[in-house]
Amino acid sequence: MSLRARTDDDLDVLYEIAADLDTWEERNPQAPRPLTRDQFTARFVRAAGSDALGDRVSFVVDVDGAAVGAASLFDFDFFAGHAEAGISLVRSARGRGIGTAAITQLVKFGFMRRNLRRIHLQAIASNLAAIRAYQRAGFLIEARQRQHAWVRGTYEDIVRMGILRSEQISSA
Ligand SMILES: CC(C)(COP(=O)(O)OP(=O)(O)OC[C@H]1O[C@@H](n2cnc3c(N)ncnc32)[C@H](O)[C@@H]1OP(=O)(O)O)[C@@H](O)C(=O)NCCC(=O)NCCS
Repeated sequence: MSLRARTDDDLDVLYEIAADLDTWEERNPQAPRPLTRDQFTARFVRAAGSDALGDRVSFVVDVDGAAVGAASLFDFDFFAGHAEAGISLVRSARGRGIGTAAITQLVKFGFMRRNLRRIHLQAIASNLAAIRAYQRAGFLIEARQRQHAWVRGTYEDIVRMGILRSEQISSA
C-alpha cells in the first residue's frame, strides 16, 4: 500500500467511491443523492483548486499500481495547527488492513511533512471498521454526538476522534 498523487486514470475508481450510495452516510454528512459524473467532476475541480492552494492534501491509496481509494487532509487551521482526515476504499479493498495502513501514513504525512499538531475526524457509530482502523492508527475517541446523524432509517451517534503529534505511534 502506498499513498500517491492521483492521475486521470484514477478518476473512474474515485467516481465509483464517491457515487456509492451504500456507503454515502459513512463517507460524508451531506444528504444522500445520486451523484452524476458531471457533479463529481465539478466537485473534483473545486477540491483540486484547494489542493493547489495548499489547504487540502488529496492522495490516492495505491495497491500494486492500482487506485483502491482516496485519503485526504482538509479544513486546515494553520493557526492552531490542525486538520481533518478522511479516507474511503472501494469495496473490494476493504477488510484487508489497507485502511489502517493508509490512515497511519496519512497521519504521518500530516505531522511530519505539514507540521500539524493535531488531526481529527468523525465516523458514524456503527462504522466499526473505520473506528477500529483509526484506533489502530492512534486516534482516541474524544466525543460522541448523540443521535446526530440520520442513517438509512435511524438516528446514529457521531463519534469524534483525534490524535496529537505527541501521541503518534512510533512505527507509523
Ligand atoms: C473505513 C475503511 C477506510 C477501513 O479500512 P479497511 O481497510 O476496510 O479496514 P482494515 O482492514 O484496516 O480494518 C480495520 C480494523 O477494523 C476491523 N474491521 C474490519 N471490518 C469490520 C467490520 N465490518 N466490523 C467490525 N470490525 C471490522 C478489522 O478487523 C481491523 O481491526 P483489527 O486490526 O483489530 O483486526 C474502509 O472500510 C472503507 O473505506 N469503508 C467505506 C467508507 C468509509 O466508511 N470511510 C470512513 C469514513 S469515517
